[in-house]
Amino acid sequence: MTKTVAIIGGGVIGGGWLARFLLNGWNINLFDPDPEAERKVNEVLVNARHALPMLYDVALPAEGALNIFDTLQKAVQNADWIQESVPERLDIKHKVMAEIQTHCRADAIIGSSTSGFKPSELQEKSDNKGQIFVTHPFNPVYLLPLIELVPSPENAPADIERAKDLLTSVGVRMESLVRGLLLNLNTTADDVYRMHSQMEGVKLLGHNHLKSHMRRHTQHPIQAVVPE
Ligand SMILES: NC(=O)c1ccc[n+]([C@@H]2O[C@H](COP(=O)([O-])OP(=O)(O)OC[C@H]3O[C@@H](n4cnc5c(N)ncnc54)[C@H](O)[C@@H]3O)[C@@H](O)[C@H]2O)c1
Repeated sequence: MTKTVAIIGGGVIGGGWLARFLLNGWNINLFDPDPEAERKVNEVLVNARHALPMLYDVALPAEGALNIFDTLQKAVQNADWIQESVPERLDIKHKVMAEIQTHCRADAIIGSSTSGFKPSELQEKSDNKGQIFVTHPFNPVYLLPLIELVPSPENAPADIERAKDLLTSVGVRMESLVRGLLLNLNTTADDVYRMHSQMEGVKLLGHNHLKSHMRRHTQHPIQAVVPE
């Protein structure tokens, strides 16, 4: 059955997550209070529809459906996975996490894109801490096949495995390579080329093509997350 992800915050990173999930066949529920959010995610989608299929030898699945909601409650209530990508302020993250947990399914997984907060910091005001993970991506999220999945001792081993399986199903992997990558404060086209060249079943974009794509679409440096 088609799975549903709620994208909470559709800026640079939320838009990239949205594209990765949508192009891998998931249904999307987007909530972002910015009236420009729909236009912004559609611009990311244009780039992703161009770039992502070129990486694979096989056709991607049919796209899922993109639903845009005017409340967070409606966006999260039937979601299997919730990806939070709101601004990097702990007070905002806590407020949004509390609202997500009030309305989401008890078995949903919540990933935060945070670049700098530990999972325990995100979990500290929650009554259901084990539902919350750090799932730190790299920009552009639809192109870079790597996520840093950071659990805390509150996350059950079975839920960590479930989170890994769901992320793997949208074409990303979580390997020790990430630790090395985080030591670099900038992702370059060379990093992306190296990552893709180590993945099975993934076709390499021409190096020059990739470089020009990265020049156009990567504006933000990566910051390191310290796992628990
Ligand atoms: N930019 C990067 O390179 C990068 C890389 C990895 C991780 N991150 C992390 O991803 C997160 C998002 O960063 P970004 O660069 O996409 O920021 P951004 O400013 O581009 O996007 C944030 C979005 O959140 C929306 N928003 C604000 N309040 C909200 C609310 N209450 N509910 C729903 N949406 C809300 C805003 O309207 C905006 O569209 C941050 O935690 C950041 O540290 C960023």
